[in-house]
Parts: sequence; structure tokens; C-alpha cells
Amino acid sequence: MEYQSDFLVIGSGIAGLSFALKAARLGTVNIVTKKQSVETSTNLAQGGIATVLCPEDSFDLHIKDTLVAGDGLCHEDVVQMVVRGGPERLNELIEIGVEFDKGSEIEGCDFDLGVEGGHSRPRIIHARDMTGKAIEEALLAKIEAHPNIKIFEDHLAIDLVVQSLTMKRGGAVAFRKDRCFGAYVLNTDNGEVQTFSARFTLLCTGGAGKVYVYTSNPDIATGDGIAMAWRAGAEVGNMEFVQFHPTCLYHPHAKNFLISEAVRGEGGRLIDLNGNTFMEKYHPLKELACRDVVARAIDSEMKLSGADCVYLDITHLGDGFIKERFPWIHRKCRSLGIDITKEPIPVVPAAHYICGGIRTDTNGLTSIKGLYAIGETAFTGLHGANRLASNSLLEAMVFSHAAFGHVERIVGEGEGPAMPEVPAWDEPANKDSRELVLISHNWDIIRRIMWNYVGIVRTDKRLMLAKKHISHILSEIDEHYPNIALSSDLIELKNLARVADIIVSCALLRKESRGLHFNADHPAKDDANFNRDTLVTVE
Ligand code: SIN
Repeated sequence: MEYQSDFLVIGSGIAGLSFALKAARLGTVNIVTKKQSVETSTNLAQGGIATVLCPEDSFDLHIKDTLVAGDGLCHEDVVQMVVRGGPERLNELIEIGVEFDKGSEIEGCDFDLGVEGGHSRPRIIHARDMTGKAIEEALLAKIEAHPNIKIFEDHLAIDLVVQSLTMKRGGAVAFRKDRCFGAYVLNTDNGEVQTFSARFTLLCTGGAGKVYVYTSNPDIATGDGIAMAWRAGAEVGNMEFVQFHPTCLYHPHAKNFLISEAVRGEGGRLIDLNGNTFMEKYHPLKELACRDVVARAIDSEMKLSGADCVYLDITHLGDGFIKERFPWIHRKCRSLGIDITKEPIPVVPAAHYICGGIRTDTNGLTSIKGLYAIGETAFTGLHGANRLASNSLLEAMVFSHAAFGHVERIVGEGEGPAMPEVPAWDEPANKDSRELVLISHNWDIIRRIMWNYVGIVRTDKRLMLAKKHISHILSEIDEHYPNIALSSDLIELKNLARVADIIVSCALLRKESRGLHFNADHPAKDDANFNRDTLVTVE
């Protein structure tokens, strides 16, 4: 089966949906999403969107805070572009019906702005603690009603369709260039591999938190876009910078539930098993220091005391305020037997966000023509070595607009490519579906290796061991993959293993500690040698 459209969007979070809505003005859009449309990281985002909205704040301050968090590696042009583009993009969300909380105490400001770590002013616009859900629902309602857009749920992209084009200059062959024309996609309902061909392809596949045992990410976050782009030859970078969110709910049945940074922003205090605060030992900003600092402090306290978690206490904020400001967190904890109005919340750090990804320019264009990457899957240069809280939805909105502007110019100038003939996926029949233990076993091992050896605190030895184990798993996958029946677990395993290997490779290249990458064998920052991005491509 082949589906053709002008635009193929892979992923259904804020990045993909915002782009699709605009691109539908120019042509047809197919969106493929591996589960249900709402199963995205966007949908789980609690905190909100960081943007400059009140007179006591300024673009310069937001830019400065982003650069400080990024620890020397942010691309300043990108930071300027994203911060300055925020208010306009936010208005688009308000226009499509997203209702953000109002009622600020700050003069001249309509909205209730939250505080999060690393921000020098209140600037997090939010819809209580369900901001992502409000955005996702509003965008999906528009998308589903649009005649030019079709969503394919339960469709998992396997690989990109990349063809080598001969470019001519003055009638003579000048160079050959790879161009992306869509993707091969597994319909996980019926097991059929379908071709989705398109003139422009967008990877908006989110992050890769599932590469770690403990993560705040949804099950879909298996780094599919990054792995596919890498296999297609795109440049990938800065993957050593994995952000561990300091406070995920610690409970055997909680799976991946986040306790938003906004809770600390409203005055939540971190305490140990004995009820003592500890953040004052680590940073003058205490609970509101940047995430790398808070996550490392918690990790260190847990290692010192041998405790399984620390606690976040907000009981002093009062029953009424807690229920009104954090209804989702309150309900979720209540369902697990924790009354956050009366007792502290058990929390641990967990993998939350990958600051690196597929390298793009300021249009969201990757190193492969016709292929764009937006959102967490992309490495735009905004976050540097550490992402400032709530800058991610902002980045997704600004870059989806920039990518739209770019394709609009190309289409307007009549320069869009003609669609070549795309060969169908060649899947041999009668593959083995008995050896599925191979898949579950390796899924488990990768996630444990990454947690134990490539986590919050790394060493050269742990990284080298991780590299060795993951290389072995990759060879095992290469050997057996062709003979095992295609399934979503198998495709995701292949992607997870690749992303794990890229994270370790990038971490091994950086012999210093900076932002989110802390290596105990090189504990200092080394500007002379490492004040630069880490870029890798397929060998
Ligand atoms: C949070 O609510 O703490 C997450 C927000 C973010 O990761 O930016």
C-alpha cells in the first residue's frame, strides 16, 4: 500500500501538529503516529511554556537565563530567535482555544506565571498542571477537522526513504545529494509495511527517555526519529546531554509520573528521610537551582544515606491551594495512597529530556534535503549543555513555524522536488516469531546499562563498559534482526540500541564535565578543548 502527500509528519506532539496545521494551507499532510494521537510527551507536559509576558521581564533576561543553563554551548542566534518568537507563537495557541491560567499578582500581566529552576523571573504560562494536555487537545481538534490532513494512528515509522539525486548546474552534473522522500511505516494493527511518500518529511518523534530504566517519558519515547535519521546519514549531535528531572514520583505503580518543577517553584522543599532539608549544601538557589544541580544533589543524598528516594514537601502550601494549582498531581498521588496536602511526596530523579538530537539549521532542516526535525528529536542549538525548564514547548512552536516558513518559500518559488518512484518495502515471508525473548531481554539490558553506567554521574570506565556491552547488543541485533518477524518491539529495540550507542559515543568524546554531562574522572569544565558541540554520523 502506498500513500502520497505533499508533507509527511512523523509524530503527533506539539511540534508535528503545529507544523501540520500550517502546512495544510500549502498541500496535503499525512501524520503517522505510533500509538494513539494523544500518546505524546507534549500531552504529559505539566509545567508550561517559558515566554516573556510581563513588564518586569524582558527578552534579554530570558536569553541570559537560557545561556547560563546551557553552560557555554547554546547557539546564541538560536536562543535569540526562540525567545523573541515566543509571544507570537503563544498567541496562536490562545487563538485556537488553549486556556491558560489567568489572575497574576504581577502588575501589567494578565496570566498567572509560574517560577521554575534557572528562571530569574516568573515566566511559565500554564494551564494548571496540565498544560501539555490542554495544548494537545486544542491542536488535535483543529487537525481532525481539517480536510487536507489525515492522521494514521498505530503506524510506526521503520526507516526513511532517502534517494540520491543528481544535481545539475548549467547542464553538467555538479554533485549528488541525498534527499528524503518519506518513510516506510509499519501498520501495527495489521502488520503491513506501507510506503508513505512525500515531498517534505518532518521528524517530530520526541525524545528517547525509554533508553533508561527510570524515565518521566511516555512509552513512545524510544528515539525513533534520531535512530532513523542517523541510519539515513544525517548528522546527530550533543547526545551526551541527557537531562534527568530531579523529581519523578517514586512508587512501584507510578511508572513514569512527573512531579512538576512548578511544585518547587511554588515553594516545595526537598527533604531527606529524617525530614531535613539538604539543598542549601549544594547551591545558593537551593530547590530552584538548575536541574542538573538538583538531580546530582538528590543522587548524592541517596547514595550517602542508602535511601531509595528523597521527599518533596508542600504540605505548608495548604489544602485549597494545592488542589487548585496541582489538581492532576494531587489526584494521581491520591490514587496511589499519598495525600500530598498532608505528607511529603517520595521522589527520585529520572531521565526526562535529550538536549541533543538530529542537527538542524534555523529552519529545522537537517543535513538531508527534504528532511526536517522539530522538537525534542532535534538538536537546534537552543539548549546547549542543559535545557532551561519549560523551554521545550517553546522551541517546538518556534521551530515548527520556521520550518513552515521554509517550505512555504520553496513551494512558492516552484522549487519543490518532483516525486520519484519509491520502491515498495521488501519483507521476506516466513520469518521466525518464536525468538521474542531476544527482544525483551535486550530491551531490559540496554535500559539497565544506561541507568547504571551512563546516568547522572559517569566515569570513563563505566562509559567504556557501556560501549562494549551495547556494541555487542547491536551486533546481535544486526545478526538476528533480518530473520525475526517485524514488530513494533523489534523496531523500537533497534532504535533504542542505536540511540544508547550514540549517547555513549558522545559521552566518551567529552572528557570534561559541563551542564548535564558529569564525568567524575574529569570533574571540571575544560573550555580550551571542549567548548564545542559533539557531532557524529554513521560511519
Ligand atoms: C516540569 O513540569 O517540571 C517539566 C517541565 C519541563 O521539563 O520543561
